Amino acid sequence: MGDEHSLIPKDSFVFKLPKKSPLVLRTVVLLFVMVCTVYICSICLKQIGVVPSAGFLNVEVFERPCPEPNIQPWDIPYVHYPKPKTYSREECSCNPVRYFAILSMQRSGSGWFETLLNNHTNISSNGEIFSVKDRRANVSTIFETLDKVYNLDWLSSASKNECTSAVGLKWMLNQGLMKNHEEIVEYFKTRGVSAIFLFRRNLLRRMISVLANSYDRDAKPLNGTHKSHVHSPKEAEILARYKPLINTSLLIPDLKQVQEMTSKALAYFNTTRHIFLYYEDVVKNRTKLDDVQEFLKVPKLDLKSRQVKIHHGPLSQHVQNWEEVQKTLKGTGFENFLLEDYRR
Ligand SMILES: *[C@@H]1O[C@H](CO)[C@@H](O)[C@H](O)[C@H]1NC(C)=O
Ligand SMILES: *[C@@H]1O[C@H](CO)[C@@H](O)[C@H](O)[C@H]1NC(C)=O
Ligand SMILES: *[C@@H]1O[C@H](CO)[C@@H](O)[C@H](O)[C@H]1NC(C)=O
Ligand SMILES: *[C@@H]1O[C@H](CO)[C@@H](O)[C@H](O)[C@H]1NC(C)=O
Ligand SMILES: *[C@@H]1O[C@H](CO)[C@@H](O)[C@H](O)[C@H]1NC(C)=O
Ligand SMILES: *[C@@H]1O[C@H](CO)[C@@H](O)[C@H](O)[C@H]1NC(C)=O
Ligand SMILES: *[C@@H]1O[C@H](CO)[C@@H](O)[C@H](O)[C@H]1NC(C)=O
Repeated sequence: MGDEHSLIPKDSFVFKLPKKSPLVLRTVVLLFVMVCTVYICSICLKQIGVVPSAGFLNVEVFERPCPEPNIQPWDIPYVHYPKPKTYSREECSCNPVRYFAILSMQRSGSGWFETLLNNHTNISSNGEIFSVKDRRANVSTIFETLDKVYNLDWLSSASKNECTSAVGLKWMLNQGLMKNHEEIVEYFKTRGVSAIFLFRRNLLRRMISVLANSYDRDAKPLNGTHKSHVHSPKEAEILARYKPLINTSLLIPDLKQVQEMTSKALAYFNTTRHIFLYYEDVVKNRTKLDDVQEFLKVPKLDLKSRQVKIHHGPLSQHVQNWEEVQKTLKGTGFENFLLEDYRR
């Protein structure tokens, strides 16, 4: 009861006014209507336009600074104008950039291949970025890393002072690529990334290179440093002195496993725009590098690498138990790996 009583005087204060003073009421109502009008109008202005239309204008100004590139309609999704956060592209800001990824396996010539690409003034390939586990921990860390690379914010020795027109990285199949293939294929599709498959024909040679490289990791015959790639024939000769022993009971299953992984990768990424290369073909036929430059739509240059091949000549001189390896592969689908010989 006490509560009700105390409320009544407050209400009655408002309603008592009209009886006593109609002029005051009119003024109050007028003021009230004016305040409401101003308030409603301000909301209307906000909603209709001032702020969003300013945003819209900004988008137009920044998104179309460059003349349309003279390309085929199907090519449009592959052309980009990145705006790095870490620096300004300045005079290069209207140079279109294409995104690529070299998809390969360890010891398949991708290191050498990448040095060739990086010899191009306009290509920047940033190395085996996903060899670091944290970066491939899950799809979000993978995408974060890729975004940085493709936005030209990944600063490495491959970064160019020239106008980059193709930017990418080297990505081994076992570095989260196969594991997260569905999401990565989708990313490649939405961001317009092209794939360069680089595999080795002779998987026996690859196996020898894997074994020798893993031996070198511990033995370090080159003045105590581990080198996966060398730049002089002398260094190559020292590394090639080591002859691995191949476990022949695992040989065929291992070769099969590599073959299966390769064809799986191709099947997963077959909807991605891609080019397929064998290392051996690039070694023998430098015209293949023209195909790659054409694929990346960069001006054709004569590309050079300082790297020297480690294991050349017949394979028989690079394996301890050659007789046994021969016996194991004779009559199988892998027999030609024994015969194949090529030189750079
Ligand atoms: C390409 O290789 C040649 C020969 O090694 C070298 O002189 C040149 O500076 C390299 N260009 C780039 C962009 O790395
Ligand atoms: C992904 O991995 C990073 C680093 O290990 C971690 O911080 C993050 O929480 C993970 N994100 C998801 C969605 O699992
Ligand atoms: C390649 O780089 C040069 C030097 O910066 C530049 O003039 C040229 O426009 C670039 N080419 C492409 C296709 O971006
Ligand atoms: C080892 O280092 C010495 C001195 O720096 C150098 O002359 C020699 O060529 C190096 N040897 C190899 C195999 O790298
Ligand atoms: C070859 O591999 C098998 C299976 O892992 C193993 O049991 C065998 O001991 C290995 N042989 C040699 C000579 O290392
Ligand atoms: C890609 O490979 C899958 C599975 O092998 C197949 O079903 C699909 O038709 C292929 N797509 C293209 C575009 O080749
Ligand atoms: C070298 O590669 C080009 C382009 O891929 C091809 O047209 C040509 O036939 C190849 N030449 C040889 C000798 O294999």
